[in-house]
Amino acid sequence: MRHLVSVADLSREQAIALLDTAAEMAEVNEREIKKLPSLRGKTVVNLFFEDSTRTRNSFEVAAKRLSADVLNFTAKGSSVSKGESLKDTAQTLEAMGADVVVIRHPSSGAAHALATRGWIKSAVINAGDGTHEHPTQALLDAYTLRSHVHSESKGKGLDGVKVAIVGDIAHSRVARSNLILLKTLGAHVTLIGPATLLPAGLVSQADSSFYSLDEAIATTDFDAVMMLRVQLERMNASFFPSEREYSKIWGFNSARLSKLKPGAIVMHPGPMNRGLEIDSTSADHMNSVILEQVANGVNVRMAVLFHLLAQGDANV
Ligand code: CP
Repeated sequence: MRHLVSVADLSREQAIALLDTAAEMAEVNEREIKKLPSLRGKTVVNLFFEDSTRTRNSFEVAAKRLSADVLNFTAKGSSVSKGESLKDTAQTLEAMGADVVVIRHPSSGAAHALATRGWIKSAVINAGDGTHEHPTQALLDAYTLRSHVHSESKGKGLDGVKVAIVGDIAHSRVARSNLILLKTLGAHVTLIGPATLLPAGLVSQADSSFYSLDEAIATTDFDAVMMLRVQLERMNASFFPSEREYSKIWGFNSARLSKLKPGAIVMHPGPMNRGLEIDSTSADHMNSVILEQVANGVNVRMAVLFHLLAQGDANV
């Protein structure tokens, strides 16, 4: 593995190896001194052209826990406002000694371009490109799921685990990456949302799909329900009648939570629109693993950096 641009590039064995390494990183993160020397002398560049709280900060924490130097770039306040291109920005930062570039960009395909066009020599990690993919989010979601369905999870996939992905599927790079990775790991994936937000190309890759969340919950004993953020900023048309209507039909709430099987978990990649796709009772419920997902993001990103920079191709 030279780059991580798409989860479609990961075999089942590679994905499980990354999850197993993340489990080892979790043990490090439980120690008093949460530090490994593995990436001493390496530099991680966070190249963020879009806002982020979880992804950017957890990559920074992950890199520092592996003893790497970190250079944080955000487009706001940079020479991008003077017209500097992605290529020139990336080459400029690489000239300061980057070994890996973690890129978030509003354009689908930006990470692929950086990894394949020969502009830079560094490894590239896709931290979310437009509506295309968010590979490390899918890995941390799979890690979180695996830790809940298997008490001893090392070496295991997610065979037969039933996952509902609910909401704004059309604009969600999280949904796309999760669908691909969950299928690679053997899970049974159901997509649920308004017809306007359920693209046929993704529905055809899922095991089932529903326009009604209530019908889906009544039909399937889900192990996990993954709610998606309604991405109002990416919507240039009216995809549903009103936010009130959306919340009533597709929002997750305590009534729907009470109909899940005991122990089923509630997930959300964040940031949440509380009161729209999820209510506060469900978001803060003991079955919600939303903050656990955030914590696991550090474990998984340490694993990805470790595999790309410290371990080479041999084990992934
Ligand atoms: N889940 C996620 O990507 O969150 P951020 O936008 O805060 O990084």
